[in-house]
Amino acid sequence: MSRETVLVVGSSGNIGVSVIIGALRSNLDVLAVVRGKESEEKVLHNLTYDKSLPVDRITFTYADVLSDSGVQGVVDEVKAGKLPAFHHVYSAVGAYEPKTPIYTVDTASLRRIMTTGFEAAFFAYRATMPYLLAQGAKTSTWTLVTGGAGESGVGGATATSQGALFSLANVACHENEDTNVRFNEVYLHYRVDYDLVCDESPMSPPQMGYGKRMRASEFAGVYEKILADENVRAARVSVYGFEDLAEFKWRKKLPPRRF
Ligand SMILES: NC(=O)c1ccc[n+]([C@@H]2O[C@H](COP(=O)([O-])OP(=O)(O)OC[C@H]3O[C@@H](n4cnc5c(N)ncnc54)[C@H](OP(=O)(O)O)[C@@H]3O)[C@@H](O)[C@H]2O)c1
Repeated sequence: MSRETVLVVGSSGNIGVSVIIGALRSNLDVLAVVRGKESEEKVLHNLTYDKSLPVDRITFTYADVLSDSGVQGVVDEVKAGKLPAFHHVYSAVGAYEPKTPIYTVDTASLRRIMTTGFEAAFFAYRATMPYLLAQGAKTSTWTLVTGGAGESGVGGATATSQGALFSLANVACHENEDTNVRFNEVYLHYRVDYDLVCDESPMSPPQMGYGKRMRASEFAGVYEKILADENVRAARVSVYGFEDLAEFKWRKKLPPRRF
């Protein structure tokens, strides 16, 4: 049987690289969306921590994920047979702009933060979900990473974009409760970095308050567990620290009674 593929949006970041590691270790191929050659090289460089990873199973494609037609263009190329078909999606676009107090944030910055922190995920969802539904693969998943900043109140305007992601996840969980696509949110309230960064500097900056950095390859285990467990559907998987890597903490995201 041919291997399934995960399309990763935000694939060159700490989380994106972690997702690629988890996918390769789960015997999936990867369709990595990056903004250009430099980001492609960033991915490959950050995978060199483990020379045994089958990086030849990653297909790179260039697109502007902040544009409302960027990921749609990728899906169109998949449909045209120019890129590999995919069965899973993971969205991990973001940029940390913690300017505070937020009454000092100018309008252009706010819009940029909301485009990167929220719209990119929405555009990815809008472009890929109809494709996954039409494909009808029973194993399909769609995963969205969100961050603890959105609940703790730190992180300025970036944290407000996290709030929008929580709601996007709620809606997507609701819309896909009975479809062939298992939608889940990964709520991360800890610091994850590329393995090479952890090797060079094992501790997070003290002002972050997280202590030891979590390696992308360690956090990858969370995605592996989501892929492997069909019960994890319309759920929030929470990671507050190393103990949650072993425990795999998840709960249904939506309340039992809804309209
Ligand atoms: N890492 C953590 O510890 C952590 C903790 C909690 C939540 N999160 C959440 O996880 C998500 C990803 O975090 P991360 O640490 O992986 O971030 P990151 O390392 O900064 O990577 C972010 C990704 O988004 C892309 N991106 C950012 N701005 C872009 C732009 N203007 N145009 C195109 N692509 C752009 C980056 O592409 P380039 O490489 O091309 O710049 C990269 O692929 C964020 O929503 C973050 O809030 C992360």
